[in-house]
Amino acid sequence: MSTVLYYFSGTGNSLFVAKELQKLIPDTQLIPIVRSLKENNFVTNAESIGFVFPTHGLTIPIPVRTFVKKMDASSGNYFFAVATRGGTVFRGFPVINDVLTRHEKKLNASFIINMASNDPKLSFYNTASKEDIDHLQKNALIKLNEIKKIVDNKEDYHDDDKSGVTFSRNPMLNTFLEHLIPFMTHFLSPKTKKYFYSDSKCTGCGTCEKVCLSQKIKMRNKRPVWQKNITCYLCYSCLNYCPSKAIQIYSKIWMKSYTKEKGRYLHPYASGDDIAQQKKL
Ligand SMILES: Cc1cc2nc3c(=O)[nH]c(=O)nc-3n(C[C@H](O)[C@H](O)[C@H](O)COP(=O)(O)O)c2cc1C
Ligand code: SF4
Ligand code: SF4
Repeated sequence: MSTVLYYFSGTGNSLFVAKELQKLIPDTQLIPIVRSLKENNFVTNAESIGFVFPTHGLTIPIPVRTFVKKMDASSGNYFFAVATRGGTVFRGFPVINDVLTRHEKKLNASFIINMASNDPKLSFYNTASKEDIDHLQKNALIKLNEIKKIVDNKEDYHDDDKSGVTFSRNPMLNTFLEHLIPFMTHFLSPKTKKYFYSDSKCTGCGTCEKVCLSQKIKMRNKRPVWQKNITCYLCYSCLNYCPSKAIQIYSKIWMKSYTKEKGRYLHPYASGDDIAQQKKL
């Protein structure tokens, strides 16, 4: 096997990208990062090593960071990463490159693909319409063919992360926010006591427990409980896959839920089983 693609996906965007890349790049094996973490398996014999994941708070998701830090990169001679995103700037590639540099390797290529957002917190979030999704999919497929050529030829290439939306016209404020937001996402959000809760629409179906990638959710008396001692991966699978839209996020700052009036997003080709598959051993 010559290429391995490690992936993480909360609502199917990155899963779609990983599966399409597997079709395009010969001899490619897909490995879910969640499963590798559960198995404590950080070894591969692949020469090309790729990572596919969503943007979380302008940077790489918590489990991807954990995995990259523990990974044995010794067999690799070409490394590439693909971040899917809802549209902001992305600042996560140096995190991967820094780890690789310590092993005298480097991140040879990095790509960003715009897809529909699964995060109701983003101010520009509006549940993507079918037309939006079709348009994004079309562009994603064009981009994936470009990625295939670059990876096949083991070229050095880096997408311009500045092409995403910034937060204000003030460059100083942007720089401040671009440091603060990844910090808050990684160190504060998963530990906040009240983050998710289920409202009266909950039917006790258990879908949220099934799709929860960190296994933070356990059903008790037909209601989900977010266990305090387990770090949330912020994949938002629970929020988006709940068939009753009963899961809400509580904002400590605004002291209210900001998800009740918002829609939910799932990639059209990703079922709850596809997402849950990532944690199956
Ligand atoms: C907790 C969280 C934070 C996010 N932060 C950002 C962000 O900072 N910038 C952005 O463009 N998209 C952001 N998104 C949107 C996702 O990156 C985007 O929808 C991605 O394609 C989802 O991929 P997935 O379906 O594979 O999880 C965020 C999503 C979540 C759940
Ligand atoms: S998925 Fe939604 S309805 Fe089903 S148990 Fe979880 S919160 Fe309740
Ligand atoms: S609690 Fe929700 S957001 Fe956190 S890991 Fe589980 S499914 Fe993902």
